[in-house]
Amino acid sequence: MIPAAGGGTRMGLNKPKQYLPLRGRALLEWSVAPFLDLPWIDGVVLVLARNDTEFAKLPIARHPRILTAVGGAARAESVLSGLQRVAERSRAFREVHVLVHDAARPCVTYAEIERLQEEADDRHGGLLALPVTDTLKRGKQGRVAETVDRAFYWRAQTPQLFRLDLLMDALRECSSHGLEITDESGAMERAGYKPRLVRGLESNIKVTFPEDLRLAEFWLAQQELQP
Ligand code: CTP
Ligand code: MG
Repeated sequence: MIPAAGGGTRMGLNKPKQYLPLRGRALLEWSVAPFLDLPWIDGVVLVLARNDTEFAKLPIARHPRILTAVGGAARAESVLSGLQRVAERSRAFREVHVLVHDAARPCVTYAEIERLQEEADDRHGGLLALPVTDTLKRGKQGRVAETVDRAFYWRAQTPQLFRLDLLMDALRECSSHGLEITDESGAMERAGYKPRLVRGLESNIKVTFPEDLRLAEFWLAQQELQP
């Protein structure tokens, strides 16, 4: 399930970042591609903004393995809408697991998705993440309050993998309490789960600012060179 209903305000461009051109395709097409190819993934639900006019223009708009859902004003709303669509389609199955991946991460690789699938916990789920390499300071009013032990800190990425029913319950619980969460793991943590940290790659960047496009281009070119 891929939330792609954001406006990309931090890019400051005239269209949402998921539709910007990147090495001959729309950025979104890169983010979706590996999920369409992996045989153990049943399908892809893409969450689009209600007023989206771009998706229909893309070649993948008619892909038989893609379904769409309508997103909301906040990412968590879009995710819940997408999960509902997944649930409708998989009612006949017990214990469905779902991968949630940001449309804004076009450089994700098959290898990372497969590692997540192998290492995520069945009940607690898991997420791709990277150990922090810089020395970390806790700041207070512009000065260092202390140096914290970076061994405890990871940067969360996507995809994240959870059991569909547990994730939906966790997200609804956060939403009903007005709790703001920025990723699915955050909702699961609040519900008492301990998602597995699965080591991701530095290349799986989230395109946020204009300069990130150059970096995404670089990583995609590197991946093409690999055997
Ligand atoms: N997203 C979404 N629905 C929203 C907000 C965000 O589906 N209401 C999606 C985005 O399309 C993106 C992912 O969530 O794939 C991560 O969000 P972010 O990187 O913050 O993208 P935007 O919200 O589009 O960018 P910005 O915050 O700069 O406006
Ligand atoms: Mg945003």
